[in-house]
Amino acid sequence: MENKSTPYAADEIVVLKNVVKHYPLGKVTVEALRGIDLTLYAGEFAAIVGASGSGKSTLLNMIGCVDLPTSGSVFINGIEIGKQNDKELTQLRLYNLGFIFQTFNLVNVLSVFQNVEMPLLLQGHFTRKERLLRVDQLLDRVGLLTHRNHRPNELSGGQRQRVSIARALVGKPKIVLADEPTANLDSVTGKEIIDLMQEINNADQTTFLFSTHDERVVSRVQRVIPIEDGLLTEPDYNAATSHSNTRHTGTR
Ligand SMILES: Nc1ncnc2c1ncn2[C@@H]1O[C@H](COP(=O)(O)OP(=O)(O)OP(=O)(O)O)[C@@H](O)[C@H]1O
Ligand SMILES: [Mg+2]
Repeated sequence: MENKSTPYAADEIVVLKNVVKHYPLGKVTVEALRGIDLTLYAGEFAAIVGASGSGKSTLLNMIGCVDLPTSGSVFINGIEIGKQNDKELTQLRLYNLGFIFQTFNLVNVLSVFQNVEMPLLLQGHFTRKERLLRVDQLLDRVGLLTHRNHRPNELSGGQRQRVSIARALVGKPKIVLADEPTANLDSVTGKEIIDLMQEINNADQTTFLFSTHDERVVSRVQRVIPIEDGLLTEPDYNAATSHSNTRHTGTR
């Protein structure tokens, strides 16, 4: 989807300008994000890292168009989300974003196949045959083709997370957002999940943005984005330099 209405370069897939998010809580206001400037480039494999309560999920929610900022701007693939109506935001989400959650968020009454198929049904323009091909291709890729008729509650945690990776990718999103994707997995399974996401990132150049405080994840990403009390603790190097791309803080 191309949009020439903003001055952003095509490979600046996510741009945040002075994003502030306040939550009213009784008589007080929680300042969850206090002015975030961030640029993510297509193909990055990056992690937002910070303590509990630092604003990681809030930041992912802003990028995922789950919620709107109190002030500031969020651009996804050049489109300013604050200027979209609900229908346009839904479309933006469907075609640009895939989500992976800590608790998998699969629908237990549906089969593995049906869970992965859901984004294609929402996109709405695939024939049954096309959906079958695409879903099975993704299930094969995450190693679960043999489990396509199982229900999520018949799978292990790692298998469930593989299903959610397949579901996140089936609509061919440009960005996959993952909120603590390994937090509910043992270390071996968590590593396998990171391996799988990295393999997909390498093969397809899909942009991945995680939140985590898991050292195993931090050491594997290409770029670490530290957050503390609703502020990024280092200036976003990508925003400051044009496109020097990755600062390697970990091994790939
Ligand atoms: N819906 C909400 N209403 C009120 N306060 C909220 C809401 N969501 C988040 N907050 C507050 O905003 C701050 C940031 O929360 P957030 O969930 O983004 O942190 P986090 O870094 O994801 O933490 P964790 O590692 O525990 O998941 C916290 O002080 C939290 O209590
Ligand atoms: Mg969180």
